[in-house]
Amino acid sequence: MTDPVEVRRVRLHEWREVRDLRLEAVSDPAASIAFLTTREEELARDEAFWRQRAAGAALGDTSAQFVAIADGDWVGTATVLLRERGTRDHLGREVEAPRADIVGVFLAAAHRGTGILPRLFESAAAWAADHGVDALTLDVHVDNARAQAAYRTAGFVPTGVTFTSAIGPELEMRRALP
Ligand SMILES: CC(C)(COP(=O)(O)OP(=O)(O)OC[C@H]1O[C@@H](n2cnc3c(N)ncnc32)[C@H](O)[C@@H]1OP(=O)(O)O)[C@@H](O)C(=O)NCCC(=O)NCCS
Repeated sequence: MTDPVEVRRVRLHEWREVRDLRLEAVSDPAASIAFLTTREEELARDEAFWRQRAAGAALGDTSAQFVAIADGDWVGTATVLLRERGTRDHLGREVEAPRADIVGVFLAAAHRGTGILPRLFESAAAWAADHGVDALTLDVHVDNARAQAAYRTAGFVPTGVTFTSAIGPELEMRRALP
């Protein structure tokens, strides 16, 4: 029997799928405590932006986007962004030690609670480990209880770092890689 849900890295030509899944994510009822951009901001981006986003997602040395595909539908995603010391992260914070951030985590509602998220994280972790990283970090809004619970189950623990981003108070979580 074939696996009904495929988890893999984005491919270069898939800019429309990357765009449409992001639009679905930022339209989610939880979007205001989940994502740093709004539906309006994403809708304003042109084709060149999405082609470039997909190229980085598919081929980048410092980023990789993983997607879950069920019966041809893109139903989930997680992206890894590698950070070198001395650079700035997606929130403008100076990076003090090399890091791999997980961002843009989303599952379509009908596919939540089905175990897809751990598979996305395993793909992200394997890619990060191949790039010499010893841990994954992510930020989550303090009110996003479901995401926090899902991340705990996936092995992430709060680091104690808290901060305020454009969407409000967030906490940092970390998972060591074997
Ligand atoms: C966050 C998300 C990826 C989690 O994936 P998921 O498949 O829904 O996760 P699960 O259903 O396995 O839920 C994880 C945990 O949350 C718990 N949970 C479910 N609904 C909950 C709720 N409303 N409040 C608190 N916890 C909840 C589950 O019981 C489960 O707990 P357990 O792991 O201890 O058993 C998904 O819900 C999603 O895409 N949400 C919208 C976008 C989002 O918030 N992204 C994260 C941005 S940081």
